[in-house]
Amino acid sequence: MKKTAIVALAGIAAVTVALSGCGRTEPGAEGGGDDAAGFAADASIGVALPDRTSENWVLAGDLFENGLEEAGFTGDVQYAGSSNAVGDQQQQVQQMIDAGVEVIVIGAADTNQLATQLEAADAADITVIAYDRLIQNSDLVDYYVAFDNFNVGVLQAESLLEGLEANFPGESPWNVELFSGSSDDSNSAVFFDGAMSVLQPAIDDGTLNVVSGQTTVQQTATEDWAAENAQNRMDTIITSSYQGVELHGVLSPNDNLARAIIASATGAGFPVPVVTGQDSEVASVESIVAGEQYSTIYKDTRALVAATIDMVSQLQAGEEVTTTGEADNGAVEVPSNLLDPVIVTQENAAEAYADNPDLEPLTQQ
Ligand code: GAL
Repeated sequence: MKKTAIVALAGIAAVTVALSGCGRTEPGAEGGGDDAAGFAADASIGVALPDRTSENWVLAGDLFENGLEEAGFTGDVQYAGSSNAVGDQQQQVQQMIDAGVEVIVIGAADTNQLATQLEAADAADITVIAYDRLIQNSDLVDYYVAFDNFNVGVLQAESLLEGLEANFPGESPWNVELFSGSSDDSNSAVFFDGAMSVLQPAIDDGTLNVVSGQTTVQQTATEDWAAENAQNRMDTIITSSYQGVELHGVLSPNDNLARAIIASATGAGFPVPVVTGQDSEVASVESIVAGEQYSTIYKDTRALVAATIDMVSQLQAGEEVTTTGEADNGAVEVPSNLLDPVIVTQENAAEAYADNPDLEPLTQQ
């Protein structure tokens, strides 16, 4: 063999050693950060999303498809179906593991029902990123990317109080009802806890009167985040607690439910109460601009998906993963990247959506 060839081969060997040397990061001190660092630049990345319970999930699927491809990866994006979301998602995640993906991004259909799949992913050395919803009670969740969900609840509650003061000045105690999200979604309790950190003191000091008396996350749950469940519960509460009683406001955890609650109230002959929301769904942004729904939360899905793909790229390059803190999932503190949610009312809608070509035009009416 020629000397130059030997030198060239030695060079390749050195590069190989260097690449494999930077291919792994140490497992995080508490429950995360291990696995797939330094994999192929065109690796397969699985994305398992829940049923399309709100527009943010629909948007996320397209953004992941395009964004992963642009970043050079091979994306496999799957949605759970609505009739058997948990089983569908378990099966989809297992298929991704079998197909040899390097990373699986999971927006959990049920944040408590993925234990078997997480064990299989761990055994195959696959990194798991919990997306938007924190998978519970497992030390096999490597990272979490989401908006600050506790703060979502705080902002919703603050806007409820602000709206009550603006629309019904001097009429306190205000009559309100509380809604939370689906009990199989760990976000629901976090949103509610955030909201109650603001509302409980106002209930205790008599500023707010929850006429139905239903104030726990269990009593206020809306299973499957289904609009019809929120509408039915509001109908029932109106019948039982609001005969001859004014309804001033409702804490709604998201837009889909907010519109159902407004439909229930107006259907029963009430004026539109002060209703909160979340997700900046098109119909709700229109409703806010028209002076009906009082507020929503802007969690820019484009930013959340981009942050997740950045994390995948960092893992691919063997770089340190960007995190802003940790989130407790009941088993460990999961290294997390939490983005800031924005409260939107009629007043700041144009400003809040100024950089969003889909939402900004809705504010120009
Ligand atoms: C939550 C998510 C919310 C909302 C809800 C219903 O987990 O954070 O933005 O979309 O699910 O889909």
